[in-house]
Amino acid sequence: MQLNINGATHDVDVEPDTPLLWVIREELGLTGTKYGCGIAQCGACTVLIDGVATRSCVTPADSVAGLEIRTIETVEDTEIGRRVVEAWVENEVAQCGYCQSGQVLAATALLSDIPNPTDADIDGAMTNLCRCGTYNKIRAAVRSVSEA
Ligand code: FES
Ligand code: FES
Repeated sequence: MQLNINGATHDVDVEPDTPLLWVIREELGLTGTKYGCGIAQCGACTVLIDGVATRSCVTPADSVAGLEIRTIETVEDTEIGRRVVEAWVENEVAQCGYCQSGQVLAATALLSDIPNPTDADIDGAMTNLCRCGTYNKIRAAVRSVSEA
């Protein structure tokens, strides 16, 4: 099947129900997208599908053929993504970093949809888990983009 990932078309030879996460990591070697729980709970595997934050561990590859898939490797190619990454650096959000690519993509999707999100919007969108507990800094970084 053909998948459009980070602006390029990739021919991938996998079973249709292969989780998109494994295509991204194993077939394409894009290891910025992480495996955490494998059951759509943690958000470490988040990618953007047509701009929507999506948990790739439970997304069959054939379900996203023809759609625009973006991973952390090219998030800065968009204006919002670039500003989110800058805010993450300025606010020194990351600790171990494992969850952060998913967090950055979730924030990028949120701020693309809602440039000035309320607390409720942020709570609703930023459901990714962080075992290091960086939630306060994540919130500060999201706010700094929305207030910029
Ligand atoms: S690995 Fe996909 S949500 Fe946890
Ligand atoms: S920064 Fe370590 S899991 Fe979030």
